[in-house]
Amino acid sequence: MKIFVTGGAGFIGSHTCVELLNAGYEVVIADNLSNAKPEAVENIQKISGKPVVFYKTDLRDLEGMRKIFTEHDIDAVIHFAGLKAVPESVQKPLEYYENNLGGTFVLCQAMREAGCRKIVFSSSATVYGMHNPVPFKEGMPTSATNPYGYTKVMIEQILTDLALADPQWSVSLLRYFNPIGAHSSGLIGEDPNGIPNNLLPYVSQVAAGLRPEVVVYGNDYDTPDGTGVRDYIHVVDLALGHLSAVKYVLEHTGVEAVNLGTGQGTSVLEIVAAYSKACGKELPYRIAPRRPGDIATCYADTEKARRLFGWEAKRNIEQMCADSWNFAKNRYIK
Ligand code: NAD
Ligand code: UFG
Repeated sequence: MKIFVTGGAGFIGSHTCVELLNAGYEVVIADNLSNAKPEAVENIQKISGKPVVFYKTDLRDLEGMRKIFTEHDIDAVIHFAGLKAVPESVQKPLEYYENNLGGTFVLCQAMREAGCRKIVFSSSATVYGMHNPVPFKEGMPTSATNPYGYTKVMIEQILTDLALADPQWSVSLLRYFNPIGAHSSGLIGEDPNGIPNNLLPYVSQVAAGLRPEVVVYGNDYDTPDGTGVRDYIHVVDLALGHLSAVKYVLEHTGVEAVNLGTGQGTSVLEIVAAYSKACGKELPYRIAPRRPGDIATCYADTEKARRLFGWEAKRNIEQMCADSWNFAKNRYIK
């Protein structure tokens, strides 16, 4: 079986490629390297001991996409490629809509021409918006508060309409909660450019001595310790969820949205404590005002993933922080 992975050099894509190769799939990657480095592709091969075919190409290049589908008999696509920084999406909405929607249109056109109609899409828990009660269930109404979130809501709709119009399509809309951690080899992980937006990359840079303290956005939420609660999921568990989704789309048609989370909430201060334990020193932090657009609590109802895919996350917060620190040490401490 041959799987085409868009954005396969990125954080979640690279971990998923490793698990696909370990499970015996062949892997073809397309990535324009706008947010990844070519070494990620080398490291995927190093970890798995297997080759991948890599195209440095942009999804919006139709001829480039056609070439891939002509040169390979693709059984299914996992579509990670997209821009993902929420604050940047507010500054550059056109770039976000153009890249995320435009890339998806071209990909789907090339898939249709090639007769490949099985796709697993990277959506996000952000589509549950600001007003649904936790735990978030797949049937709840979706909405967004920023252009990044709207691209996810819109692409979910576009792929749903495609599957309704042509019953040969099989679409899995995976709503990730908060992916963190890294592969146990320490060779691949999350390595954002500039100041990290997300909590874990920021905390790991504090642990590595690159930044003085963790900035905690708000301690007056309606949560047990007042700080924001999220459903953190180990990226390797998330990668394994994609294998289950691929099997599912290969065997079914139609469209399903599925949460990939642990169902457990962890606060910002609990993360700081767990990371301090992992890196062996108390990490300094200060309380700052709430970050606009943040909700108090976000965690998944995981029943559908268990029922449909037979998948559940296995790794705990300690493991996530230990693997994140192992990668950060390799990356930041020479
Ligand atoms: P990432 O930035 O590490 O990976 C995305 C990859 O896509 C990058 O390697 C980038 O170079 C590539 N890319 C972007 N636009 C492209 C284009 N037009 N053509 C070709 N390649 C392109 O991000 P990630 O954390 O691995 O996220 C993967 C997917 O999961 C994204 O769609 C993201 O929105 C979604 N997601 C991520 C999170 C998270 O917290 N990391 C949460 C929910 C959903
Ligand atoms: N936080 C801090 N300090 C920081 C960064 C974050 O206190 O420096 C807090 C936030 O306020 C929040 C929690 O840590 O309470 C997690 O924040 P992240 O930025 O790590 O993650 P979010 O839940 O805000 O968003 C992430 C992705 C989105 C995705 C969403 C749901 O960035 O793209 O998860 O999947 F949509």
